[in-house]
Amino acid sequence: YTITVDPDARGAAIDDTMYGVFFEDINRAADGGLYAELVQNRSFEYSTADNGSYTPLTSWTVGGTVEVVNDSGRLNERNRNYLALGAGSSVTNTGYNTGIRVEKGKRYDFSVWARAENGTTLTVGLKDTAGQLATARRVAVKGDWAKYEATFTASRTSSRGRLTVASSSAAALDMVSLFPRDTYKRQPNGLRKDLAEKIAALEPGFVRFPGGCLVNTGSMEDYSESSGWQRKRSYQWKDTVGPVEERATNANFWGYNQSYGLGYYEYFRFAEDIGAMPLPVVPALVTGCGQNRATDDEALLKRHIQDTLDLIEFANGPATSTWGRVRAEMGHPKPFGLTHIGVGNEENLPVEFMERFKRFRAAIEAEHPDITVISNSGPDDSGTTFDTAWRLNREAGVDMVDEHYYNSPQWFLQNNDRYDAYDRKGPQVFLGEYASQGNAWKNGLAEAAFMTGLERNADIVKLASYAPLLANEDYVQWSPDMIWFNNRASWGSANYEVQKLFMTNVGDRVVPSEATTTPDVSGPITGAVGLSTWATSAAYDDVRVTAADGTTLLDDDFSGGASRWTHSGGGSWSVRDGQYVQTDEAAENTLVTAGDPAWRDYDLHVKATKKSGK
Ligand code: AHR
Repeated sequence: YTITVDPDARGAAIDDTMYGVFFEDINRAADGGLYAELVQNRSFEYSTADNGSYTPLTSWTVGGTVEVVNDSGRLNERNRNYLALGAGSSVTNTGYNTGIRVEKGKRYDFSVWARAENGTTLTVGLKDTAGQLATARRVAVKGDWAKYEATFTASRTSSRGRLTVASSSAAALDMVSLFPRDTYKRQPNGLRKDLAEKIAALEPGFVRFPGGCLVNTGSMEDYSESSGWQRKRSYQWKDTVGPVEERATNANFWGYNQSYGLGYYEYFRFAEDIGAMPLPVVPALVTGCGQNRATDDEALLKRHIQDTLDLIEFANGPATSTWGRVRAEMGHPKPFGLTHIGVGNEENLPVEFMERFKRFRAAIEAEHPDITVISNSGPDDSGTTFDTAWRLNREAGVDMVDEHYYNSPQWFLQNNDRYDAYDRKGPQVFLGEYASQGNAWKNGLAEAAFMTGLERNADIVKLASYAPLLANEDYVQWSPDMIWFNNRASWGSANYEVQKLFMTNVGDRVVPSEATTTPDVSGPITGAVGLSTWATSAAYDDVRVTAADGTTLLDDDFSGGASRWTHSGGGSWSVRDGQYVQTDEAAENTLVTAGDPAWRDYDLHVKATKKSGK
C-alpha cells in the first residue's frame, strides 16, 4: 500500500475529552469491586427479591442465637434490617470471592453500629483457617444505636480472611464494615486502589456513570413506605448520597444487591481525582433493556425532572443551596463542575422516549443553558427503531446522541467508515458503549482499527467509551469486559491496552491521509461468532448455538415469548468446565456468562433465523 499524508492539511480537531470510561455496576463492579468495602451484605439487606438465592444472612455464618430483625427498633427507616445477637453469640462474614483480602503490615478500619446494655463488649476478630490475621479488638457498647470503630494491622497476607463479631451480652448490630486504610488517594469510604489506579492509568477524558441498563430499568418509584419499600427500583441518585448507613440498598438489574456505598458523591469525587469530566445518566421514565414500557404517571415524571435539577444543584450549586449543602456536608464544598448529563439509556420506544426527553431537556435548559443534555438512540441492533430514534433526535435538534453497539471483530473492521457519512450538522455522537465480542488480541486489534475511524470523524464523534469497564471473575453477567479482577488481583485485557494506547495519546488534530487501497476485511476473523446482543421474538423465529462438536448449547424458538441473553458472540457464552449455564429469570432467558478467559478455545456456531423484513 501507499499511504499519502499531507502534513499541512487540517483534519478534525480532537477534544481532550474524546476517550473516557463507562462505569456500570455490572459484574459486581461496585460492591466486591471498585468500592473498597470488604464485608459483603454489611447491613443484612440482601433479600430473595434481589436474587432467589439470597437471604438477609447471605455471606454470614452464625454461632449461637442470631436473628435478622425488621422492626421499629431499626437503625433508620432506609436501613430496614438489623441483627439481634444473643449473649455469647457471634457472626462471621465471608467477604467476596475466596474471602476477605488483607496484606501483611497494612491497616484495616473496622466499624459497626450497635445497640446494647451498657457494659456489653463486642470482640472483633480477623482470621483465616491458619489462624489469626490480626490481634482481636474489643469494643465497649454504651446503650442506644451508635457507631463504634477499631483498627487492625494485618500480621499476615491472606485472601481467605473472615471477620467475626462476638458479643458478651444481647446486642443489636448493623453496618458491619471493614475498609482498607489504603484506598485510592486515601479517600474515606473510598475505592479499591489497584482497580482505581488501572482506570486512572487510562487518563480518561470523562467518566460515564452509573449505567447502563441498571439506570433505566425497574420501577421508577422511590424507597418509602408509600411505595411499599420497592426493591427493584431504577437507579436514583438521591438514594446514593448522605451517610452510608442511611442509603437504601436496591436489587440491581444484573441480579444482585447493590449497597450504594459507591454513590453519586463518590463517582463525582473519583472523576475529579482522575481529572475526568463527570457524565451522569438519569432515568427517563421509559424503560429499555428488554422491559420496553413507558411510565405515564405525570407526578412521577415531574418528580424525576425535579430530581435531575436537584442533581445539577448537588454537583454545581453553592454550599449554601439545598443540595450543594448536602455535597458540602459530605466533604466537598467546592462544586464538581458538571457540564454534560445523559437522560435515558437504550429505550426501544423512541416516540415515548422523545416526548419525555424533551420535558427533561426543557427543564434543564431553562435553568442551566450551558449544560449539554445527551439523548440516546437505543442499541444499534434494533433496525427501524434505531433509525426512528435518530430521525426524532434530528427533528428535535438534540445536541448529542448516545449510541451503543456490541459486534463481531469483523464488523468493527468492516465499519471503520461508519461515521464518514454522518450529517456534519449534528446531532453529535457520544459512543457511550461499544466492544467487539471477545477479550482476545484480535478483538483489541479490530477495536483499534475502528477507533481510527472515530478519530477521523472527531468533528462529529465527540465522546467514546468501551463497555463494560469492570468484571469480578466470579460474578459475571456480561463478557467481554475491559478490566478483570478477583479479591486479590486485577488485570487488563488486550482491549484495555488498546484503550490505554489511544487514551494516553490523544492527538490535537487529525492529519488527513489517503491509501491506494484498503485491506480486504470481507472474510471472517478466525473463531469469531457474530450474533447481535439482543434477540427477540419480534426479530427472529429461532436461534441456535452449537459447539464445534455439534452439542446444542442453546435452542430458542421463542415459544416462551421474547428472550434476551446477557450477551452474545464467541466471548460471551458461559464456558466453564465444559458446562454452558443457562438460567431462567423473570421474563427472560439469561445465558449466564462465567467470564472464562479461555473462551477463544471454543468454536461456537450461531444460527439465527431472522423473520422476513427484519
Ligand atoms: O454494557 C452492558 C449493557 O449493554 C448496558 O447496561 C446496556 O446499556 C447495554 O445493553
